[in-house]
Amino acid sequence: MSRLTVVGAGYVGLVTVACMAELGHHIVAMDVDADKVELLRKGGVPIHEPGLTDLIAKHRERIEFTTDHAHAYRSGEFIFLCVDTPPTASGDADLSRIWQAIDNLPPDEVEHVIVTKSTVPVGTGALVKAELDQRGYRHITYASNPEFLREGTAIADFMHADRVVVGADDPAVAASVAALYQGIDSPVLTTDVASAEMIKYASNAFLATKISFINEIANVCEATGADVTVVAKGMGMDRRIGPHFLQAGIGYGGSCFPKDVSALKQLAGNSGYHFQLLNAVIEVNELQKRRVIGKLKRHLGEELRGKRISLLGLAFKPNTDDIRQASSIILASRLLAEGAHVVGFDPVATPNMRALLPAVTYAASAMEALEEADACVLVTEWSEFLELDWASVKKTMAQPIVIDGRNALDGPALAQLGFIYEGIGTRSVG
Ligand code: UDX
Repeated sequence: MSRLTVVGAGYVGLVTVACMAELGHHIVAMDVDADKVELLRKGGVPIHEPGLTDLIAKHRERIEFTTDHAHAYRSGEFIFLCVDTPPTASGDADLSRIWQAIDNLPPDEVEHVIVTKSTVPVGTGALVKAELDQRGYRHITYASNPEFLREGTAIADFMHADRVVVGADDPAVAASVAALYQGIDSPVLTTDVASAEMIKYASNAFLATKISFINEIANVCEATGADVTVVAKGMGMDRRIGPHFLQAGIGYGGSCFPKDVSALKQLAGNSGYHFQLLNAVIEVNELQKRRVIGKLKRHLGEELRGKRISLLGLAFKPNTDDIRQASSIILASRLLAEGAHVVGFDPVATPNMRALLPAVTYAASAMEALEEADACVLVTEWSEFLELDWASVKKTMAQPIVIDGRNALDGPALAQLGFIYEGIGTRSVG
């Protein structure tokens, strides 16, 4: 078993800590945020991720949380960089936290492998290696090991990964990093560093492209009378296409897709290549978030001022409290700008949204959000919304109009109850 240092106790860092401990390794997790470290020491976990708190608790004796970077770096044979790389104003990835970590490396002769899990532009590994060489840190080697974790299912995604990608220019280094994953049943792909970095961007950009593609098909379905859910099913039966990431809706959000698509576009542009397809993927996604406004106007009239619109779900997807780049933000802001009275509810993301958009009214339950509503928009397909007693919902709403932004509700059943139901790229009923 190995000693690992994990730098950055954020989303990726904590999942890495928990899962690497599950694989038997000893971990020192370092974060600059003293409050966060204190909370973790007391058994708390600062993010909402199913199973994470329990898994960290299970292996607590093998995990140390600290703010002391010198101690943390000296402890690990492998130093996993799990710091965030948020987008800058130009759409590039901000690498300042990666460079901070490199600056903090103690100038001793202990051998380490730096393993970058953070999503970094292709070429970053080469720059880091050049910097290490320049400082004379020949005892420190480098590997890229991108993560493919979805929020809400991150632990399963780690423990049952479709693949583990390890990029290193020295095969012995690649083998040592790959060996850390012994115990999980996943194929390991070893590559050079630049290709590993690109695999991460290309995978996320491809998935985002799939979503924007099916969203455009949905929009054409609306204009031509086809049903995108059936179309997606038929497409997905072709093994070359596959059934995943073909759910039409009101656009993708989250901390990864928008950031990574934009970073890959910038990366291409900075290298002199105009990545046309990604421009369209981004634009389609932005427009998709606004399509609900048109649907609401079709049912409520052009004037949304004073209308009470209930938003069911605020998180960028179910089972997370993350609202980064969530479609709900654009939708709520547009509705507020139209003068509508926006009432939002989310099982866990409400506090995050309240801090960002205080002008929205936040309800304590879905039923409260639906009281006297002129229309309801399903923004995030939490299972509790699918299981609502819709007959009671019909009684509590002022007008029985449901816009299903995720095609997750049973439209015909709602129509039977007397609702006017409209999905995305499906036939409206009622
Ligand atoms: C994503 C990648 O899947 C993961 O591999 C990567 O490392 C991090 O980014 P995540 O952002 O957690 O994970 O969420 P994901 O489940 O991929 O969904 C992203 C967004 O796409 C959500 O807003 C979701 O609602 C939307 N989506 C997804 C669709 O609109 N349609 C689909 O068919 C699938």
